[in-house]
Amino acid sequence: MLRTHNCGELRLSDIGKTVILCGWVQRSRDKGSLLWVDLRDRYGISQIFLEEDTAKAETLKIARSLGREFVVKVTGTVIERVSKNPKIPTGDIEIKADQIEVLNSAKIPPFLIEDETDGGDDLRMKYRYLDLRRNPVRQNLELRHRMSKAVRDYMDGEGFLEVETPVLIKSTPEGARDFVVPSRLNEGQFYALPQSPQTFKQLLMVSGFDRYFQIVKCFRDEDLRADRQPEFTQIDCEMSFVTQEDILQTFEGLVKYLFKKLKNIDFEAFPRMQYADAMRLYGSDKPDIRFGMQFTELNDLAQGKGFKVFDDAELVVGICAEGCANYTRKQLDELTEFVKKPQIGAKGLVYVKLEESGIKSSVDKFYTPELLQEWATKMNAKTGDLLLILSGEAEKTRKALNELRLEMGTRLGLRDKNVFKPLWVLDFPLLEWNEDEKRWFAMHHPFTSPKPEDIALLDTNPAAVRANAYDMVINGVEVGGGSIRIHDRSTQALMFKHLGFSDEEAKAQFGFLLEAFEYGAPPHGGIAFGFDRLCSLFGGADSIRDFIAFPKNNAGRDVMIDSPSAIEEKQLKELHIALR
Ligand code: AMO
Repeated sequence: MLRTHNCGELRLSDIGKTVILCGWVQRSRDKGSLLWVDLRDRYGISQIFLEEDTAKAETLKIARSLGREFVVKVTGTVIERVSKNPKIPTGDIEIKADQIEVLNSAKIPPFLIEDETDGGDDLRMKYRYLDLRRNPVRQNLELRHRMSKAVRDYMDGEGFLEVETPVLIKSTPEGARDFVVPSRLNEGQFYALPQSPQTFKQLLMVSGFDRYFQIVKCFRDEDLRADRQPEFTQIDCEMSFVTQEDILQTFEGLVKYLFKKLKNIDFEAFPRMQYADAMRLYGSDKPDIRFGMQFTELNDLAQGKGFKVFDDAELVVGICAEGCANYTRKQLDELTEFVKKPQIGAKGLVYVKLEESGIKSSVDKFYTPELLQEWATKMNAKTGDLLLILSGEAEKTRKALNELRLEMGTRLGLRDKNVFKPLWVLDFPLLEWNEDEKRWFAMHHPFTSPKPEDIALLDTNPAAVRANAYDMVINGVEVGGGSIRIHDRSTQALMFKHLGFSDEEAKAQFGFLLEAFEYGAPPHGGIAFGFDRLCSLFGGADSIRDFIAFPKNNAGRDVMIDSPSAIEEKQLKELHIALR
């Protein structure tokens, strides 16, 4: 080893020791007769000290030549500091340098390598290897490491085997868009990168592996957001001979274990909510239940009083913002602008203020104070509260009110990052109608089983068929989802038929699975967690990017290595690809 200690471990008990430290120069201060250098590595910062009167001339000269981020090796003696720094663990000591060796010089970094940096997002991504030197970023990856270690410990303890599944697989039309890889050896044919190991883990159940898991990269060519990356990591899991309840218990256990291990937080049993209730009460299949503000439907009270906007609406629905009756005109205008943003899409916002002096609303022309009081009563509102009401087509209006509810939650400080509220959302619909393609799609994926009592509805009312599918939601983030699978060929074939596949298409795309089901497939089910999302949630961040060592930007680019990029004509030829 080039060093005897790292930069974070020396304490008062080490005084008098001769040590060798290696690291990067964080900063240096030259006071003429005294000189200090802060030396940094992954473990911390140690202060190096030189005194003009006692230091060797050569050592002083080198110390004075050091620039930021130079890589150096320092030999010296541990001494007690005169002015101690209680903010860092090594703050009681410093190293009186005897010898300094420059292991490598460094250009001036393009941004400050400090906890608070002056570097913008793009610059930090271009020089991600420098960004990773910063404490907050490195700490995120340390958390990620501890999380994956804890996941493996728990899963191993529960008898799960970690099995790797292939990365070059086969493109399928369901789900998101695939990333594809041309095959040199098979002209005109392509592999696809897995969107998840779904079919492989089911085949492992057919193989009798009984309990499988994998911390695995998945790839989806979809539009990116703060909580989505084109390549991301799942904790992918599957179990045989289990009911839905067994799966919920096992994986609630995993999440509780992670919270205990990493944050020392204990939980009671996680609450559970039907999908239908989540949509009715929160307008979302991933409600943030850190705060209330549930929806109240007002059709019965608000319609038929001559206000055309409400009369023509499929749904009139509102939330009660506690203590917000004093909102100013400006604040209400801001909220109105918020709901009218194209991505939210409401046409307008109706408000009712329950002031001490009486009820005031934006629809006073149509409703007497008595009528408005009826709304307030139905919404459990009291004096001092503000009612915010949207109307229109039911699904769209619920979605818009969900956004408004979250916005109000944020404005009112009800979404504390240090408070964690997990929730199981159960009984998702099996199918959803795709208006563009004019056909039904599997809401989760085509391998999810319908509830046996709903199968008869497949022919008459497909939208009403519920699936044995569940999501785990924490603080409004979908951290995981899974289902009990179909494990017999005839039900799987029926499902493909309802998804609009001909027998030939089903066979061409999923024949291997249908066939496997004929060789003794056990009943099975599973779940996959978004590992990056879990890490960012534990780390108190909104974006998963900060928990991925080398992430892509919102255009799906890695700006550091400049990828994706063109390839050479020769390579294209080998791959049998002609560009236009
Ligand atoms: P699903 O598609 O719901 O299920 O994915 C499981 C979890 O993965 C996370 N996730 C993502 N995280 C980051 N970036 C993305 N682009 C992204 N897409 C999904 C989410 C999600 O809950 N095979 C099934 C699981 C199963 O049925 O067992 C599946 O992949 O947190």
